Amino acid sequence: MSNNIKISTELAPDGQAYKTVTLTNKQGMKISFCDWGATWLSCQVPTAGGLREVLLGCHSLSAYQKQTGYLGATVGRYANRITNSTFKLDGISYQLTPNQKNHQLHGGPVGFDQQRWQIISLTDNQVEFELHSADGDQGFPGNLTVTAIYHLTDNNEFKIQFYAKTDKSTPVNLTNHAYFNLDGDGSGDARRQTLSVDADQYLPVDEDCIAIGGLASVTVDDMDLRTPRQILDNFSHSAARNRVKGYDHAYLLNHHHEVVAKLIAHDQKVAMEIMTNKPGIQVYTGNFLAGTPNRDGKTYQQYEGIALETAFLPNSPNQANYPQPSCILNPDEQYTYHTTYRFITK
Ligand code: GLA
Repeated sequence: MSNNIKISTELAPDGQAYKTVTLTNKQGMKISFCDWGATWLSCQVPTAGGLREVLLGCHSLSAYQKQTGYLGATVGRYANRITNSTFKLDGISYQLTPNQKNHQLHGGPVGFDQQRWQIISLTDNQVEFELHSADGDQGFPGNLTVTAIYHLTDNNEFKIQFYAKTDKSTPVNLTNHAYFNLDGDGSGDARRQTLSVDADQYLPVDEDCIAIGGLASVTVDDMDLRTPRQILDNFSHSAARNRVKGYDHAYLLNHHHEVVAKLIAHDQKVAMEIMTNKPGIQVYTGNFLAGTPNRDGKTYQQYEGIALETAFLPNSPNQANYPQPSCILNPDEQYTYHTTYRFITK
């Protein structure tokens, strides 16, 4: 293995040291990860003014254990909420471990963000993590093996490839929960950024972020992001956003274009394009970020970062009629989903 791996002096919840790895490219872009949660720790992009950190992060690895915002974490086995922590598959009802009221959020109390992943291979621009999730883990059926390959190109693209295999049918929905502030971590309100999402439909939700009434047109209640829009635009105007203190909504991607979403810094010096083969994206404006440890040893305020989580629609195990591929992985199949973040800088 190359020497871009570091053993931390800090110990993870399993009593062993954290391992961190850093990938670099020819343009000087640097991204780093931790084996705990296969967490994306840092993303420094080259601008005319030097490297800019565009990812929210904590001041120490152990501080990551003191937050519930899933900063940079790999989320699974099922990202987002499964209503009432239950679903039925092949005539069997499964009871999952709840962790948000009676619902399961982001794979349960000991989700993939709370487990140590093994580093399988490492080069200067690629790292491969692997995780085994046992049959019954957080209530899910089947022994699942998950691989996350993180690759940095010389074109300032970061590509995440997720693969999974199971020995029993199970829902699988893997994503990364990074929060972006393209004006720079710590620069303040991330809602000054401009966002576009190629989606005609979104899922309206109640105060607990549980879907109400199925997919709706983005033109309903001012949720339209099809043309670039400053996130602050009319922010408190829509009832949909008011119910959850901002955006915390799943959009069903049209896939009309290669780029499904684009975020642009307020100062225009950094833009990020997202490409993916996943059916949806959760747009979340950090409505619960307040109190999360930041890089300065203080805490973040609400809205200091935007999460754009590519995923299946929430609660899909209970919604066979959503117009998207099935989220159920069967033993003869391989889960193969990828997301690329392309950074364009000045
Ligand atoms: C997701 C959810 C949010 C919130 C965050 C974590 O994005 O949709 O409601 O739970 O994760 O804080």
